[in-house]
Amino acid sequence: MRLATTAAVAAASGLATGAGVLAWANAETRRFTLREFSAPVLPPGAASVRVLHLSDIHLVPSQRAKLDWLSGLASLEPDLVVNTGDNIASPSAIAPLLRAWGGLLDVPGVFVFGSNDYQAPSFKNPLRYLGLPALRPAPDPVELPWRDLRAAMTERGWVDLSNRAATLEVAGRPIRFRGTDDAHLERDKYAEVAGAVSDGTLTMGVTHAPYRRVLDAMVADGVQLVLAGHTHGGQVCLPTGALVTNCDLDTDRVKGLSRYSAGRHSAWLHVSAGLGTSPFAPYRTFCRPEATLLTLTARQPA
Ligand SMILES: [Fe+2]
Repeated sequence: MRLATTAAVAAASGLATGAGVLAWANAETRRFTLREFSAPVLPPGAASVRVLHLSDIHLVPSQRAKLDWLSGLASLEPDLVVNTGDNIASPSAIAPLLRAWGGLLDVPGVFVFGSNDYQAPSFKNPLRYLGLPALRPAPDPVELPWRDLRAAMTERGWVDLSNRAATLEVAGRPIRFRGTDDAHLERDKYAEVAGAVSDGTLTMGVTHAPYRRVLDAMVADGVQLVLAGHTHGGQVCLPTGALVTNCDLDTDRVKGLSRYSAGRHSAWLHVSAGLGTSPFAPYRTFCRPEATLLTLTARQPA
């Protein structure tokens, strides 16, 4: 009898601890953080350029705290907005997202899409992440109104870089961009924008999922800075770091600024841990949701 009571107390204690961890991990999804880095990628003597990097918002309209936090970002007055996709988790999220961005849509901007712009989220069997066969096949994806989202952004002047290149005037200087569509969905066609970078004008690569085939190609061409998202920073991390990147990038570069080399070139790589999660996995541990203010500065003279 005493043994059974002890086991029951232990089981209840374990359940309470588990529930507490889940509650904490869910609360972490609303602890939004602005990270700041600087990267010396501009010609010597050039004035700094402030870039707001947004990614992986995964918005559903009921997320008031996220919308309120997004609404405050326009006060940063960036020179450029780079949006690396996975914006919405519901067809009805577009209108509140545009309202929250507000004046950011009047700032020069570029964007690419991720899988969670094209397809609504669905429950994923965790066995798939362990490389084991799922008991039931995944349901067919439901398309999101990504054409409406694309039109809303381009009508305000943001430029779609999905397998496209463009040059924008940012803070009085030209910046060249080349981007790919989502490599996680194998929609990337880097060949459409490939070519060696031929002068000192900053050329920036923009992609959603930082698969190495995309990073290698961009960096080997001489792109000086690549911005990506998709990883969620590992999302459910240990205090020692991330366990996964959800692509073939190493976990040391799962978020933040790092150097990346390919061919005869090296570039700066910034991977955003993003601001959201799938609504079917609303948890983050040791990896708070983030946007990044990236200050581009002048290189030292050679
Ligand atoms: Fe995402």
